[in-house]
Amino acid sequence: MNIAMLDLRREYLYMKNNIDAAIERCLEHQSWILGPEVKEFEKKCAEFLGVKHCIGCSSGTDALVIALRAIAINNGKEFFTPDEEILTTPFTFTATGDAILRSGATPVFIDINPEDFNVSIDAVLRYLRLNGKKVKIILPVHLYGSPCSMDAISEIASSYNIFVVEDVAQAFGARWKDKKLGTIGHTGAFSFFPSKNLGGFGDGGMLSTNDDHLAEIMRTLTKHGGKDKYNVDHIGYNARLDTLQAAVLLAKMKYTDEFNSRRVMIARRYNEQLHEIKEIELPAIHEGSVFHQYTIRIKNGRRTRLQEFLKQKGIATMVYYPFCLHQMKVFQGRSKTFGNLSEAEKASREVLSIPIEPLMTEQEQHYVISSIKEFFLPNG
Ligand SMILES: Cc1ncc(COP(=O)(O)O)c(C=O)c1O
Repeated sequence: MNIAMLDLRREYLYMKNNIDAAIERCLEHQSWILGPEVKEFEKKCAEFLGVKHCIGCSSGTDALVIALRAIAINNGKEFFTPDEEILTTPFTFTATGDAILRSGATPVFIDINPEDFNVSIDAVLRYLRLNGKKVKIILPVHLYGSPCSMDAISEIASSYNIFVVEDVAQAFGARWKDKKLGTIGHTGAFSFFPSKNLGGFGDGGMLSTNDDHLAEIMRTLTKHGGKDKYNVDHIGYNARLDTLQAAVLLAKMKYTDEFNSRRVMIARRYNEQLHEIKEIELPAIHEGSVFHQYTIRIKNGRRTRLQEFLKQKGIATMVYYPFCLHQMKVFQGRSKTFGNLSEAEKASREVLSIPIEPLMTEQEQHYVISSIKEFFLPNG
């Protein structure tokens, strides 16, 4: 049996009629830049998320950069300066930290909570008590589709008068209590990279906000920095969402709730069936999570051996992420760390994501489970 992390072809075939029809419509109207699908997708997303504004853009990375730049502009300057700080987790995809550098600010990496891999609220508070004045933004990442504690983050942000930008790249459709992620902070930055819970046929992203002023600045930044592109106000980007991507995303979006619940069901099955293995730690099933990844921890340094064993069985696995951001060259001399970040570093040595795909058959799920059991419990 061959089990990939994600089988995009299978997903396509499942929704082929809808997607093909959507692409056909684009071929007919030929309105490739900011065509009608972009507006429609933005509207549907705003309804789905329960937020006032959604603004399509070219990628999740660009969404993050634009969200941070918009806050700098809102504060009266084009870019932040290196004495201004943005707090985030070191255990995330490079783009989170990279976007901070590109906004001009200094990323400050705060350790994670070992239980859900998200930024430690306690450490954020301790940092703010020491250095609160320099911090402009908190950038929590809802890693693997699991929500950060947004009540605590919102409360801290309002008491220190700082902005919250949610990195929702991995959490489209996920919730914190009764609110969708990406609608609680001042803005949310989504990615529609093909492997995401809602993925396009190429790069794509989106910004969400309830703030009219920020919405206007962000939209402007996606379009060269001006409402009129022949007479611009800000240093902007060519970062629009493609019409074709919007059409595909509109067609795929109808399956979001169904696919997210299928992911949670698979996660539950994995947790029920794998709990007897003492050498691994299973992810907690947090309310509102959409299990973008199902990530276990492997103790005793056996991760590589498990990966090789599963590879021989035809099962793909991935390490998200083998390095923390503060360990990368690009952040040397350009970022700060708070404490020794030992939990983040430990996570990067222990984590392993195994296939979790909405359309995985029960047989495939059981094959993954029995193969992991065979590795850890050979006498079974
Ligand atoms: C946590 C996180 N932030 C940001 C991004 C950047 O998104 P994109 O690849 O669409 O630029 C990604 C995904 O790729 C991500 O996983």
